[in-house]
Amino acid sequence: MATTEHRVVRVQPAGLSYRAAAGTDLLTAAAQRGVAVPSACRNGVCELCEARLVSGEAVNTRNQQMITIGERLMLCRTEALTDLELEIAAVMGAGENPPKLFQARVVEVKAISHDVYRVELSVKRRRELSFHAGQYLSVNLPDAEPCYFSIASSPSQTSIELHIQATPDWVSAQKVIDALTSGGEVTLELPHGKACLAAVPDKPVLMVAAGTGFAQMKSLVDYLRETGSEQTVTLYWGVRRPEDMYLRSLAEAWERDWSPFRFKPVIGDNEDNDWSGHHDQLVDAVLASGFDWGNVTVMASGSPAMVYTLLDALTEAGLPESEFYSDVLEYAPRS
Ligand code: FES
Repeated sequence: MATTEHRVVRVQPAGLSYRAAAGTDLLTAAAQRGVAVPSACRNGVCELCEARLVSGEAVNTRNQQMITIGERLMLCRTEALTDLELEIAAVMGAGENPPKLFQARVVEVKAISHDVYRVELSVKRRRELSFHAGQYLSVNLPDAEPCYFSIASSPSQTSIELHIQATPDWVSAQKVIDALTSGGEVTLELPHGKACLAAVPDKPVLMVAAGTGFAQMKSLVDYLRETGSEQTVTLYWGVRRPEDMYLRSLAEAWERDWSPFRFKPVIGDNEDNDWSGHHDQLVDAVLASGFDWGNVTVMASGSPAMVYTLLDALTEAGLPESEFYSDVLEYAPRS
């Protein structure tokens, strides 16, 4: 069977790369690999998909003229003839997009377990908001410290979804839920975080989440599914008790409906497990997974204790530290 030839397109200054099949324009190929490029007309008129050729050979698909090095081009009207390097000023790398304030309207707050709420927010000026799958935001209430939550929806979804765990002893989260359930508007600041995907990874992806760390993984899974990625994705989701796995049926549905996806629930095996015992159980399950640690990208979300235990275990097993992504590394760095 004939295989399609692919070119590698490196994008500067974001430092991303994506593969473009021969015969596919560079805008379509970028979308297929989850690289967000502004576009509108798709026929060379609006100039939103502008880029500059830095190296390689490319052709204008309208007039079949070769593009010279340094020349401006429109991605929707260009095909690669060799591997390319392009400068695309509008494409943001992971963590490059500076956070801004947005007003949001509360669409719904719904309890989805004994202590987790699913929150849906509609952001004003939504077209001005761009973020990458896996990033997080803060809810800024008057006279309170910002409260940080992972975004559970993908960048293409119109509304923003959050999973907020609120217990009586978690006062700041409870205050946020109280403010949201009273309706009206809230101020958000986003996007935050570098543990995100700005393009489809070129390796299998291993996601490890504890508790509501699932929210970040949901954003990543939604995004990868939308791109049509065939990259293998395995999610380990660890909770202390069965009732804490608040969207288990959703993860099971992904496994049924999306062939590259595997779901591995890890539920504490002992009612008396404290958090550290439970986290060790999750890390042990991941270690026993049989992954080729030299060929996997790991995204982890949970408490600093869990994330650093996992990082140490996986790097000892052979995972390069550069393939381990977690917001914990940024907001709770080890001294
Ligand atoms: S999308 Fe309008 S010029 Fe390419």
